[in-house]
Amino acid sequence: MTNRNEAPGKGWIEGMVSGNVHLTQNLFSLRIEADLAPFTAGQYTSLALDIDGQRISQPYSILSAPGQQPVEFFFYTNPEGQLSIELGKLQTGDSVWIQEQAEGNFTLEQVPSSDCLWLLATGTGVAPFLSMLLTPEPWKRFRHVVLVYAVRQWQDLGYGDLIKGLQQAHVDQFTFVPFVSREKIEGSIHGHIPASITNGTLERVAGRNMTLPNSQFMLCGNPGMVQDATVALEQKGFNRHGDGVSGQITLESYW
Ligand SMILES: Cc1cc2nc3c(=O)[nH]c(=O)nc-3n(C[C@H](O)[C@H](O)[C@H](O)COP(=O)(O)OP(=O)(O)OC[C@H]3O[C@@H](n4cnc5c(N)ncnc54)[C@H](O)[C@@H]3O)c2cc1C
Ligand SMILES: NC(=O)c1ccc[n+]([C@@H]2O[C@H](COP(=O)([O-])OP(=O)(O)OC[C@H]3O[C@@H](n4cnc5c(N)ncnc54)[C@H](OP(=O)(O)O)[C@@H]3O)[C@@H](O)[C@H]2O)c1
Repeated sequence: MTNRNEAPGKGWIEGMVSGNVHLTQNLFSLRIEADLAPFTAGQYTSLALDIDGQRISQPYSILSAPGQQPVEFFFYTNPEGQLSIELGKLQTGDSVWIQEQAEGNFTLEQVPSSDCLWLLATGTGVAPFLSMLLTPEPWKRFRHVVLVYAVRQWQDLGYGDLIKGLQQAHVDQFTFVPFVSREKIEGSIHGHIPASITNGTLERVAGRNMTLPNSQFMLCGNPGMVQDATVALEQKGFNRHGDGVSGQITLESYW
């Protein structure tokens, strides 16, 4: 499915699109047949298209689990952007450049074991978390996992069936908390993640306490959410993890 011989740049291989599913006007998923080098759930790779004679690339988190074929990605279409809008037009059988070797440290390997793992995402930032949750690791290392997924409107919540499947497979170990900011929807929190950390709504709805020795947090997506949620967690006594410092907050911003 991939053609290493024809890939001009080092590290680029050719993948073939095997599906493009549009969830909304702005959100879509691509399935790509590509022989990626082994990667760890949570990592990203780069995708590229040759546009007007120039190779335009951007990083994208892998949503599917390591070893799964085709490889899957979840995209927001920036109407003014160069690449995402073109990726959204790809059809089955089209080719796309992909970096063979995924990279990044936003993985569970970097996160200390704890009682509860909180995964906080906005929009397509849910992708690395779904990849992690499709592996056995979180279920072996954390007694409880809470997935928090914040979108503007209910229709923006992708991968509902996959999340339902995780709920059924891990009934006592997994809690899903959706946030919808621009509509009032029963069964979801109306508002933003950082405020709900500060005012206790998230702990109440999730039915779990954010206690210092027993919680780890991973944050991904909109940089505003990542920054504001980090401040909210720091005000509760949690600290950034990494660079030799042992803490509870691990993060990845998409722009
Ligand atoms: C480590 C990493 C992983 C990423 N993974 C994903 C992913 O899995 N899916 C994905 O859609 N994007 C992801 N991104 C963002 C992606 O790399 C591009 O920035 C995005 O596709 C826009 O590229 P563009 O060329 O179309 O537009 P550009 O001209 O580069 O537009 C950038 C602008 O688009 C907006 N934007 C960018 N990404 C998003 C997003 N995901 N949701 C909402 N608004 C956004 C922001 O306003 C940003 O300033 C990731 C970024 C990083 C750094
Ligand atoms: N999705 C669309 O229909 C749409 C349409 C036009 C343009 N865009 C552009 O798309 C990009 C984002 O699209 P998106 O909807 O996928 O993702 P998003 O803007 O990141 O929104 C996802 C969720 O994060 C929330 N959020 C935003 N800033 C936050 C902060 N500082 N703290 C906490 N939560 C925060 C949003 O709330 P709010 O509802 O309060 O923002 C929303 O609930 C932006 O650049 C935007 O200009 C999107």
